[in-house]
Amino acid sequence: MKSLLLTRRSRRNRRNQAIRDLVQETSLQVTDLIQPLFVVDGNGGPEDVVSMPGVSRYCVADLVNQCETIASLGIPAVAIFPKLDASLKDETGSHALEGNSLLYRAVRAVKKAVPELLVITDVALDPYTSHGHDGVLSADGSKIANDESVALLARLAVMEAEAGADWVAPSDMMDGRVEAIREALDAAGFPDTGILAYSAKFASAYYGPFREAVGSLQAAGTAHLDKRTYQLNPANGREAILDALLDEEEGADVLMVKPAGPYLDVIRDLREQTLLPIAAYQVSGEYAQIHAAARLGWLDLEKTRDESLLAIKRAGADMILTYFAADLARAWAE
Ligand code: PBG
Repeated sequence: MKSLLLTRRSRRNRRNQAIRDLVQETSLQVTDLIQPLFVVDGNGGPEDVVSMPGVSRYCVADLVNQCETIASLGIPAVAIFPKLDASLKDETGSHALEGNSLLYRAVRAVKKAVPELLVITDVALDPYTSHGHDGVLSADGSKIANDESVALLARLAVMEAEAGADWVAPSDMMDGRVEAIREALDAAGFPDTGILAYSAKFASAYYGPFREAVGSLQAAGTAHLDKRTYQLNPANGREAILDALLDEEEGADVLMVKPAGPYLDVIRDLREQTLLPIAAYQVSGEYAQIHAAARLGWLDLEKTRDESLLAIKRAGADMILTYFAADLARAWAE
């Protein structure tokens, strides 16, 4: 057969691995990754999170061991989430302000054992409230009270910084929280503590497995925890950018988009609107769906994992929070 007379043959640049490596535009590195971890009280063994295969809740001592391993794999940071006993939860999340609460003990222990590992803590009340919301309710219980919530969140952020958190990460989506947290940290003598703001955080069904992991859903006793008065409408890309740019003005050091995979357009748009670093959170449901399909034999776990993360990087994220972080680092270390 006679060859086509083509000036441009795109496939020339895909011919073999050497060329494919040379023309590769985006790559994922271990230093892009942040490992989220769950901690529980007591001295029990790891508790599996059923909907997140391979993810467990650890007691403080085991958490420290995990962090040592994670640091030795070259992962620069962890995000620590506490799961509290239901008896410690109340309407106002008052346990969040107890200096010896689980999260602070965990952070102190990790920073003592692995000081070089960056520790990130969530600033939100959902692990502590009986209703599972990230803020407190208004006096008549009809809504989440913004300004009262912000005042509590700023105190929580300072206590996290005191425990040794390097970055505090407001995930509550209240208005004005970043500015309030920055002022509170500075006033308390923590000018170097960074703010990783969950800036474009959507009201997403993909948080389901996480809510099982920290028990916020069980606390609320509902099948569905409705956070739509503070988290973003999945339909709204422009509003997401507006909110993220407000966090930048208020003093955030890093802006986050969450979830990641279903919101790649938002990551890309934000990349074009800010000079700040961007984090993306590949959330629990994104992790769960890859595992579920792999268990059924419908998707290849490793390949899908790698592609899902590469896509987030390609969209413009500088760093990714992912439950796959340690698995990936281990795979690369082999
Ligand atoms: C709550 C918080 C959530 C996640 C991180 N912080 C869930 C929520 O808003 O209910 C979700 C993380 C995940 O799904 O992996 N402040």
